[in-house]
Amino acid sequence: MAETPILEPCIPLPIAERTLIDVTEKAKDWAIMHGAAMRSKTNFSSDTLNFAPFILMPSSFPRKEFEKAKNLQTIINQLMHNVAHDEEFLTTTLAETVKVDEFTANLFNVYKKVLANGFGQPISLGLLRSDLMLETNCAELLEKEKQAPCAYCCWKQVEINTIASGFGHLGPISKDIQSFVMSELGHADKIKYMPENTALSGLCGGMIKAWEVYAQPKAVILFVIEDISYNICDQRFHEFYIREQRPDIKVLRRTLTEVHKEGKLGPNKELLLGEYEVAVIYFRAGYEPLHYHSQNEWDARYMMECSRAIKCPSIHYHLAGTKKVQQALAQPEMLERFISDPEKIKAVGQIFTGLYSLDDSEAGNASYEMALKEPERFVLKPQREGGGNNVYGADIPDALRKMSRVERAAWILMDLIQPPISKGYMIRPGGKSPPEVVDLVSELGIFGVILGDVDNVICNYQAGHMLRTKLSTANEGGVAAGLGALDSPYLLD
Ligand SMILES: Nc1ncnc2c1ncn2[C@@H]1O[C@H](COP(=O)(O)OP(=O)(O)OP(=O)(O)O)[C@@H](O)[C@H]1O
Ligand SMILES: [Mg+2]
Repeated sequence: MAETPILEPCIPLPIAERTLIDVTEKAKDWAIMHGAAMRSKTNFSSDTLNFAPFILMPSSFPRKEFEKAKNLQTIINQLMHNVAHDEEFLTTTLAETVKVDEFTANLFNVYKKVLANGFGQPISLGLLRSDLMLETNCAELLEKEKQAPCAYCCWKQVEINTIASGFGHLGPISKDIQSFVMSELGHADKIKYMPENTALSGLCGGMIKAWEVYAQPKAVILFVIEDISYNICDQRFHEFYIREQRPDIKVLRRTLTEVHKEGKLGPNKELLLGEYEVAVIYFRAGYEPLHYHSQNEWDARYMMECSRAIKCPSIHYHLAGTKKVQQALAQPEMLERFISDPEKIKAVGQIFTGLYSLDDSEAGNASYEMALKEPERFVLKPQREGGGNNVYGADIPDALRKMSRVERAAWILMDLIQPPISKGYMIRPGGKSPPEVVDLVSELGIFGVILGDVDNVICNYQAGHMLRTKLSTANEGGVAAGLGALDSPYLLD
């Protein structure tokens, strides 16, 4: 196999030891003092914060691919909006999956019940994040351009998130930490290659717009949260930004369990929590089975879905974000169902890497055989969010052999994307001092905001980005999950 291309670093490495120690210590303090932080999982206290792991300097990323990803986001927003409103597509696509995956089946039940009872609110708010990685084995580009290593890359979608798309604060703040470091190191002139990041204002702007559309001046925005929020800064900065922009909009935080206890529907399907009417529900929880301790939490989800409040996401948007739907969308001709412009179909079609069904069908059984034969080419994914659920490479055959033919329908198979490597310093709480230069790979997330009902889109825009970076040897790079680090792109022309 060809060697993995290495992207050129933004400044020469390594940095002299004394300088490196000094700048690292400053940057850690800068991070804590500006809320680039999380609660510790190993030593939890709601009274303390650790800085979030970060990459000391920005990681190189080809400008052309960055711009392409940003420019495509409104089309992806509209695509997901259309998918979410296509009952027949969601129902047929998820038919086999819901037979074997209890969690997706529970979500689908909520959807069916709401469909039967009528939606309390036709408008949905999508705060989406399209995650992507650069692919170095890009046949199309290898043919055309043989210049610098980054010219060999094109980006491919890892997945699209329609629920709890985090890092609206941690994305932009990563750029700020690294800009501080670049200045400290005497490279302030290079900050101009780090793109502006409007994620926090963009995402909060979507929530504020939805609140305005609800048009009830006393109503509040509800954040539905986990029992413990480790990623507290990211969430709180959304709340604080909304409060700063609009002191008249109150934000409440409640778990699903609390919504079940305190919530009820009013005569016009208003969601009432104590004395408050809820205009907008922003789910930062509810995307994994552990968030539903009992039927109570499912009842709370159903009550919210029936209500007049504008949901982010509503249940059909949540289902549109499943891995199974992503796999179905990547099949030839499928996009034509949702997008009419052939140019746009082509542009979106190019972002998909191979995605394969594992249903008990001819095609599904062929993908099963293919995965057993060459497992190192693939990732096996269940219908889960939040990281840590996928099976990689050599572990795939055992995992697949343990499943019945029918059970395989809960999973999809995806080509493993092979990103280029960048070199840098990963700074972690309790990490080595001075840090060492390590091999890294990055994943870019582009945020999108879309608000509207089936026929009428009120707003649709691209809303900034986030970059997560992990050691090149790690399979997954979730920052809250513990393997990834905050980062931001340094654009190479
Ligand atoms: N096809 C792929 N090729 C290479 N790496 C992948 C691929 N798919 C997923 N990964 C890695 O695994 C991680 C988790 O995968 P994915 O995003 O599909 O799961 P998730 O549980 O929905 O995660 P998230 O919490 O980011 O929403 C990705 O962030 C990426 O690092
Ligand atoms: Mg996800």
